[in-house]
Amino acid sequence: MAVPYQITSYKQYQEAYHKSVENPEQFWADIADHFVWHKKWDRLLDWNFSEPKIEWFAGGKLNITENCLDRWVKTQPDQPAIIWESNHPDEQHRILSYKELNDKVCQFSHVLKSNGVKKGDRICIYMPMVPELAIAVLACARIGAIHSVVFGGFSAQSISDRILDAGCSLVITADGCFRGNKTIPLKSVIDEALLSCPQVERVIVLTRTGTAVSMQKGRDIWWEDEIRKVEAEGKTDFPAETMDAEDSLFILYTSGSTGKPKGVVHSCAGYMVYTNYSFLNVFQYRPGEVHFCTADIGWITGHSYIVYGPLSAGATSLMFEGIPTWPDASRFWDIVEKFRVNILYTAPTAIRSLMAFGTEPLEGKDLSSLRLLGTVGEPINEEAWVWYHNHVGKGRCEIVDTWWQTETGGIMISNLGGVTPAKPTFATLPLPGIQPMLVDEKGEIIAGGDASAGILPENTISGNLCIKFPWPSAIRTTWGDHERCRTNYFSACENLYFTGDGCLRDSNGFYRITGRVDDVLNVSGHRIGTAEVENAINMHSNVVESAVVGYPHDIKGQGIYAYVIFRGHEESEMHIRQDIVATVSRIIGAIAKPDKIQFVSGLPKTRSGKIMRRILRKIAEGETENLGDTTTLLDPSVVEEILRGRL
Ligand code: PRX
Repeated sequence: MAVPYQITSYKQYQEAYHKSVENPEQFWADIADHFVWHKKWDRLLDWNFSEPKIEWFAGGKLNITENCLDRWVKTQPDQPAIIWESNHPDEQHRILSYKELNDKVCQFSHVLKSNGVKKGDRICIYMPMVPELAIAVLACARIGAIHSVVFGGFSAQSISDRILDAGCSLVITADGCFRGNKTIPLKSVIDEALLSCPQVERVIVLTRTGTAVSMQKGRDIWWEDEIRKVEAEGKTDFPAETMDAEDSLFILYTSGSTGKPKGVVHSCAGYMVYTNYSFLNVFQYRPGEVHFCTADIGWITGHSYIVYGPLSAGATSLMFEGIPTWPDASRFWDIVEKFRVNILYTAPTAIRSLMAFGTEPLEGKDLSSLRLLGTVGEPINEEAWVWYHNHVGKGRCEIVDTWWQTETGGIMISNLGGVTPAKPTFATLPLPGIQPMLVDEKGEIIAGGDASAGILPENTISGNLCIKFPWPSAIRTTWGDHERCRTNYFSACENLYFTGDGCLRDSNGFYRITGRVDDVLNVSGHRIGTAEVENAINMHSNVVESAVVGYPHDIKGQGIYAYVIFRGHEESEMHIRQDIVATVSRIIGAIAKPDKIQFVSGLPKTRSGKIMRRILRKIAEGETENLGDTTTLLDPSVVEEILRGRL
């Protein structure tokens, strides 16, 4: 049955956009009406950005898993909900129908309950990309516990920081995970993390790799044993907890420009409505199609477009455990062929890394099932866009360039596949319901609305991207520190949400995101704060000070360039570099390893002691001459030295 809020023509898009600006309450109420509620909302929207307070569907009662599972079990129990492809091409894939997924989520909800989990408890999930990860996430949602999924690449230190910040009482993990030809021992990382988290009373461990693990008596239990107990007791269905619309659904940590990563909090109803709406419209999902999002569930893309968006739409979501280049660079294409994938949603970094292998890995692969291709996470360069379009899409598939953030919960600016126009390297137009604004350095609005809103500049305008009005899946708070949420996102420009991204808007009203304007790097689509990397480097006992900036990297988009003041010269430089890289991996995780480390004797600082990153950024980018004004520097000669030692 067609979904009434799926927009299918450009005219409809313009009408919907207009309505969403003129009468947002009616616009969202009409959409929210199509979900399963225990009780409908009393007030559609209460908000002010100055606190910030954002409440959608207040008074409404629901459980998101009834929208992702129960309603489909009734109408299409045998439809595949999750198709899982192993890291190893010769391991049997798994297909879980909506009925099977529902049963497993209910079983695991019983496990959580019998281990003392209650509504509102925080649960840390650190797992490989196997169906049990989705099952764990959904079981938390079913019981009303707040999940905090931590990406499997993060270090013990990063995990314990997140567990302590959220006050998690239970951890769900696995013995290990497979990534390409590597086996990573997840449980031992958790053991190390938990040395500093005494409040964690339970660890549930799934068997995946067969890696030997040590199980702490009284604390650690096996997933499989717990499921067997539930089965022996004959427990099947698990009634979904009734949640308030504004109850927290999950916390997901993400990097900002200062301090430690912050826990972005999303709420039940608004997040559900928006991920479903955006999934159906951007990807133009049609019943029966196979949707393959290559992200990890440890990131927001996996939350919204592997789990909640597709499942709330009754779609088939393909989950892949491995990496695009193992055992060879045909892996994605083999998967597309094997499961007749219709929608492929991946990151520009993955496209660029596959491009480096040429077109040979694509030869002889049947990609005729593909209808739509998507990108997310970082700006896509034209060369990668054209390659994706020509060689993967064979010139016949639409490409959607989707701009959004952990904080926005769902896709905000993107063409709707085949419905609104695409333009290479442009995310193009906002979804109905989203009001982007460009502001200048002072926070004054210089351009806004979309093409249909009638405010059109004559030329391309460039500014910082803000959003004017709340949307249902907007960040509600940063866990444990509401003030941080206000200062980070709602204080730069009055009455606007500040994204931290720079942006161009062309004369058609199309938006092109140019990258972060704050001290946040985007490395292979992963967000990393420069301050975070500096703090990690400074943990090395011989490092006096460091400054980290990004530089253009052919595959990763941005690479990490670290300028380091090092004390003592007893070891070789190569040795020290390895040591610093190992320190960063230990403190944050391998994703934050610096690509280049330059040893310097001083950093360019102003008289007030502030590091002039602008200069360091230019040097890292390869600029040698136009470094801008250096007269305000305490010691301009350090710039000369840094230039001489440039890598
Ligand atoms: O800089 C933007 C970039 O990724 C940032 C958000 O990162 P994260 O919260 O980790 O979420 C990534 C997945 C949604 C943004 O501030 N970004 C995301 N999508 C795009 C993008 N930059 C350019 N084009 C995009 N399509």
